[in-house]
Amino acid sequence: MSSALRVLITSEQIQERVRLLGEQINADYPDGPIYLISILKGSFIFLADLARALKRHSVRIEFMGISSYGAQKTSSGQVKVTRDLDANIEGHHVLIVEDIVDSGFTLSYLTRVLEQRKPKSLEVVTLLDKREKRVQAVKVKYAGFQIPDEFVVGYGLDYAEDFRNLRDICVISA
Ligand code: PRP
Repeated sequence: MSSALRVLITSEQIQERVRLLGEQINADYPDGPIYLISILKGSFIFLADLARALKRHSVRIEFMGISSYGAQKTSSGQVKVTRDLDANIEGHHVLIVEDIVDSGFTLSYLTRVLEQRKPKSLEVVTLLDKREKRVQAVKVKYAGFQIPDEFVVGYGLDYAEDFRNLRDICVISA
């Protein structure tokens, strides 16, 4: 496949923003454990950098897999959990870690699922926020960058499973 890539956010810009997000989150939470829940697969690189930007000892890493039926997430009922947490999050501070929030259907479903498990707090951190595409209202406490409605890859985000390993976030056009 021949694709044109245009850098939207450089690796350096990402690193600086993640460092600031880490500082902000550190300041907002009391000492003690924070559970970071990485939503597979796109958030794995952001998770790795964010976890290291949190200057505290108790940062607990969990993974969750979700799938949506068909190519389009046209309703929240079409999302389901394919890989669940290992830990019991009841009574703990929990941060959902996303690479991108688009329509909001994924997060809307996930927050409902996780709230039922009675965490002490439940917030969302996303590296990228495509706010203009939002269909379902979701509360995003921490967002790295607002981005326009363009197809982006890199730093964990894919196009047909490729490009996740790019250091920059790039706009792709076929
Ligand atoms: C992306 C992203 C979010 C979701 C956001 O995952 O990681 O989970 O889409 O979209 P929404 O706000 O419209 O629900 P994707 O389905 O691309 O899977 P991947 O992370 O495994 O690439």
